[in-house]
Parts: sequence; C-alpha cells; structure tokens
Amino acid sequence: MYTEAVMDHFYNPRNAGELADADGVGEAGNPVCGDIMKIYVKIEDDRIADISFQTFGCGAAIATSSILTELVKGKTVAEAEKITNRAVAEALGGLPPQKMHCSNLAADAFHKALEAYRQNRPKPAPAAE
Ligand code: FES
Repeated sequence: MYTEAVMDHFYNPRNAGELADADGVGEAGNPVCGDIMKIYVKIEDDRIADISFQTFGCGAAIATSSILTELVKGKTVAEAEKITNRAVAEALGGLPPQKMHCSNLAADAFHKALEAYRQNRPKPAPAAE
C-alpha cells in the first residue's frame, strides 16, 4: 500500500522538531481528520538554510513533512516556493489515492511559513533623497 520511501520517511523522519530561531512558521490542518502540521524555516542569503517540522498526524502526513524538508533545504526561496503538493507525493513514489490529501498539508504549511517570513523580515530602509 505504501512505497518504501514513505515507510522510510515515516520510520526515520528527517528534520523533525521545532526550530527555535525560525524566521517563519506555517501551520496547516485538515479539518476532516484533525491532523495538524507545522513547518519552521530559517532563511539566510535568500536560501532555506534550515527547516524542520512538527506533525500531529497520520503516517503519510509525517512522511510528506519529512520529504518536503529534504526537497527544499538549500534551495533559494524563489525555487523552493514552486514546490507543489503533487511534487511532494511524487518524491515519495506516490501515495494511495485516499491518502493524497495528506500531502496537501506539507506544501501548504511550507508556503505559509514563507509568507510569515516575508511578513516578519525587517523592511529595507527607504532610500535617502
Ligand atoms: Fe489526516 Fe493524513 S489522514 S493528514
């Protein structure tokens, strides 16, 4: 039912936990199953310098959070934000049809974390005239 990649990321999740000095945090939840995911990002020189996740959810949700962190770590913000739910599921070799919705949480939470980063970062000082 699940691919080897899903099982691997479920049993050995990468980048799990809270990132204390995150520049942005995004949260997504599924009202039907009640699962919740948080993604933390640290941005340096416009790149995803560090990323982590906390997921209270099913195995597919944990595996998709884990693979998402690997897919975007080290990328520029512009590259990383192109990640889609489908790309996350494909990187795991697919998910069973009834579990496809679980991959939405990872990409959604990540996009929200980037949004939070943009809102949190200090605005450049206006140019002197
Ligand atoms: Fe809720 Fe998978 S069943 S995210």
